Amino acid sequence: RISMIIAIDGPAASGKGTLGKRLAAHYGYRHLDTGVIYRAVAKALLDQGANLTDEARAVAAAEALDPDSFSDPALKSQTVGEAASVVSALPRVRAALVAFQRQFAATLPGAVLDGRDIGTVICPDADVKIFVVADAGVRAHRRTQEALARGEAADEAQVLADILKRDERDKNRAAAPLKAADDAHLLDNSHLDIESGVRAAIDIVEAVR
Ligand code: C5P
Repeated sequence: RISMIIAIDGPAASGKGTLGKRLAAHYGYRHLDTGVIYRAVAKALLDQGANLTDEARAVAAAEALDPDSFSDPALKSQTVGEAASVVSALPRVRAALVAFQRQFAATLPGAVLDGRDIGTVICPDADVKIFVVADAGVRAHRRTQEALARGEAADEAQVLADILKRDERDKNRAAAPLKAADDAHLLDNSHLDIESGVRAAIDIVEAVR
């Protein structure tokens, strides 16, 4: 294939970001964690003290997005993730971010994008689609450990409640809800360590490559 698009979707803390990064490194492709885009928009609104449902302001923030800010560690917090899930339900915000993601997907020789709607909306013709799932308890445990490792306070029961709330919102919104594309390969990451998950993902890619 001349160029290759790998779409990875799944719920919060399912491990799709790690898989995306590792697949991209394995194949020499670029990787985009699209959650960071919505987090950056949400953080801009939080910094402005704006209402998270102020669609006009959110669209302005989306249009002013600076990819150089994507590595800001402040984007990783639970607060920003929660705010991102509110902002990302706004249809005009999503619309404002489509072109950036599709341009990224067209990078040669290939690109890996992970998010919620990559296989369904952003890249419906992706060469490979992987939908990553994992038990909510496992996801909460991993997220809690990550937060503690960053020096943030984190209570696992609270993290679990936040994850479940975010999944519900992402699944039930009208605009680009979280769901597996019909042609996605399901990868259950509940009981896989990182290396086994990466191996399973590579096997899926190799089957179509
Ligand atoms: O994956 P991450 O936790 O960084 O995503 C933060 C939020 O951004 C998600 O809860 C979801 O609401 C939103 N998002 C989205 N579409 C994507 C990626 C993330 O709506 N492609």
